[in-house]
Amino acid sequence: MSERLLSRAFDILERNDMGGYTVPTHGLYPFQWNWDSCLVALGQARIDLDRAFTEIETLFAHQWEDGMVPHIVFHRESDDYFPGPAIWDTKRTPPTSGLTQPPVAAFVVRRLFERAPDDAQVIDRTLRLLPRLFAWHRWFFECRDPQGTGLAAIIHPWETGRDNSVDWDEALARIEKGAITPFTRRDTSLADPSHRPTREQYEAYLWLIQLFKEHRWDHRKLHDASPLAIVDPGFNAILLRSISDLADLAERLGEHRICEESRAQLAAGIKAMEGLWSEEKGRYLCFDRIIEQPIESDSIAGLLAIFAPLPRARASSIADRIRELGDRCDYLIPSHDPTSGAFESSRYWRGPVWLIVNYMIRNGLIRIEEHDLARRIERDSLRLVEKSGFGEYYDPIDGNPCGGSDFTWTAAMTIELLMKNDN
Ligand code: GLC
Repeated sequence: MSERLLSRAFDILERNDMGGYTVPTHGLYPFQWNWDSCLVALGQARIDLDRAFTEIETLFAHQWEDGMVPHIVFHRESDDYFPGPAIWDTKRTPPTSGLTQPPVAAFVVRRLFERAPDDAQVIDRTLRLLPRLFAWHRWFFECRDPQGTGLAAIIHPWETGRDNSVDWDEALARIEKGAITPFTRRDTSLADPSHRPTREQYEAYLWLIQLFKEHRWDHRKLHDASPLAIVDPGFNAILLRSISDLADLAERLGEHRICEESRAQLAAGIKAMEGLWSEEKGRYLCFDRIIEQPIESDSIAGLLAIFAPLPRARASSIADRIRELGDRCDYLIPSHDPTSGAFESSRYWRGPVWLIVNYMIRNGLIRIEEHDLARRIERDSLRLVEKSGFGEYYDPIDGNPCGGSDFTWTAAMTIELLMKNDN
């Protein structure tokens, strides 16, 4: 069984490979996406480490001068994606979006390096990536944490990678939107509209882009100019985990300045995470910087926090919450609590299971030796793929596939789960 799944997963990686980068899936997402590429590189590295490094290097070749690594790189001329280059208008060649995505790259680069730590080429390629990774991390503190709190804010839901999470509902509803240039979505003709964000949500997404464009994508100004600024514990956990991995890598490769500064960022960030902890909920909450209030929604954000090197008591409490969710659905881990009124089992980030999230949370559980729960997540993930193929995401109640199909990162995570990468 697993041999067959593995070979199908590798086939998808190959089919979605465009040469130097991989598309998340043909049709729905025909360019390079930031965190998709990074996580996909883990799977690629199992058969071709050189190709895996190339995936990351291609992404970083389009890093902005300020340090940001954009969330989409539009490698070729095409109008088959909305919103395409003309909407973003970032004035870059090739065009890129103007936002970023969860910075999982350093976590991945560390793992690529560890596959062949004595190989001169691997050392060289890793060394060349280190300053770029570091510049991206620093960008978060310079541009997304102007008050020096230790944690970064996102200014657009797309940056979290959890586009239409319930977490953003109230904050988006508060934004006073002006006139939006008329638009036609493409996603709803390529995937079931009931699995996708609503028109109203899209209007808010586009309004924010319009606004940022007026500020010429100057990220030194955008944090304070944005009507949306949210500190997401899941996003920050990914940042902190990457910072921790970068520090270890830098230490090993003799890059002392990067190591020391990363350790300082990590210590400040882990301390600041305490401010997002909810004793009542037993997990972390998002924090809305505009109204200076926590966001009470029951999303996966507060659980994904376990990906960061958190104090053990916090991580154990997250494990308890996940066990509770396990009694509420057949397939862990739903992106929103099924007992919450806002839960929608097949709508994108409002309920469905995503294998990349399962992979990261499982990784955090293994760190605290919650092996049984980690195994349940692994089993549920593989059951989903066996039952429903390599979907974009899955209904946690009936296990049906949702969104796009033949998804690259779902294939890559399947490879990781089958070939066991437990670090
Ligand atoms: C959707 C997801 C995002 C992902 C992208 C490409 O926008 O929400 O996380 O990176 O698709 O797969």
